[in-house]
Amino acid sequence: MSLPETLERPTRLPFTPEIEARTAPIYAKLKAQIPSVEWQLFAPEIDAINRLKRERNAIVLAHNYQTPEIFHGVADIVGDSLALAREAAKSDADVIVLAGVHFMAETAKLVNPEKTVLMPDMEAGCSLASSITAQDVRDLKAKYPGVPVVTYVNTSAAVKAESDICCTSGNVIKVIESLGVPRVLCIPDEYLAHYVATKTDVEILTWKGKCEVHQEFTGEDIQTFRDNMDSVVVVAHPECPPDVIAASDFAGSTAEMIDYVRTEKPPHVLLLTECSMSSNIAAELPEVNFVKSCGLCPHMKRITLGKIRRSLETMQPVVEVDPDVAARARAAVERMLAVA
Ligand code: 13P
Ligand code: SF4
Repeated sequence: MSLPETLERPTRLPFTPEIEARTAPIYAKLKAQIPSVEWQLFAPEIDAINRLKRERNAIVLAHNYQTPEIFHGVADIVGDSLALAREAAKSDADVIVLAGVHFMAETAKLVNPEKTVLMPDMEAGCSLASSITAQDVRDLKAKYPGVPVVTYVNTSAAVKAESDICCTSGNVIKVIESLGVPRVLCIPDEYLAHYVATKTDVEILTWKGKCEVHQEFTGEDIQTFRDNMDSVVVVAHPECPPDVIAASDFAGSTAEMIDYVRTEKPPHVLLLTECSMSSNIAAELPEVNFVKSCGLCPHMKRITLGKIRRSLETMQPVVEVDPDVAARARAAVERMLAVA
């Protein structure tokens, strides 16, 4: 039985001495994370992708949760959702490959309607994005007339199109306070909304969405780590449950979590977020011990070097957004980007 086109495994590329030499500077950064036997599989893919990027005038935007060989090997821009949206808006490449999840690729397309945006695996979704539909937002607006809708970027373009403004975990408080109103709908992440409510006087109404990765962390897990390692510093993403945030030393977007660790350099740190992020910054901070508390995002992990290469070879799959939806969704994203 042959596999459907989209599921075919990319062919394995040979590891030649020339490729070994060209990719040696990248491997120097990753030696502690990636054994040499695995590198022999990754290096030819990285070499091929970097050549294809030049041929296509393409860039790869990679989220902080991508695996180290993508993050350090082929990404031109890495960051949190806010940085990826901002950089996508600034890019002068003809082609953008989004190494992340589908809503991130859609956001890149919204701010670059004339560019080709490639999503190496269209099935890379997000439990928050699938927790709410455009009809749900219309129903909320009917229930709370006049209350502005502030929508997390982790949503579909159709949901963004029903919203007044978007936000990310990196700018949510600024965005909400920029509206100058006493009450907002902050959707769809219930835990992010709870976190925001502890940081502002604006009344926060929300939805029942949750991140399937961050909802699994518990305050008890943190206590167990603290009982066994006195000096451990706990850094959490605001998609975590309220008891986790309360028991943490710092909470912020993935970029803010990284900045915190870069600045504070704690001897032992527990990052309560997706696993790959610890590996990605461990490569640059050997003096910090990253205590692994693994939560894998199955959607982020659908993206592989093989799929990135294949998308650049075939220029598929292309992300498209219905023009009417796109115009309204773009306005919500652009309002967010205009908030300093
Ligand atoms: P950031 O915007 O903080 O990168 O978060 C995106 C995300 O999907 C977290 O789970
Ligand atoms: Fe969505 Fe959670 Fe995965 Fe982030 S980690 S992409 S919020 S499912």
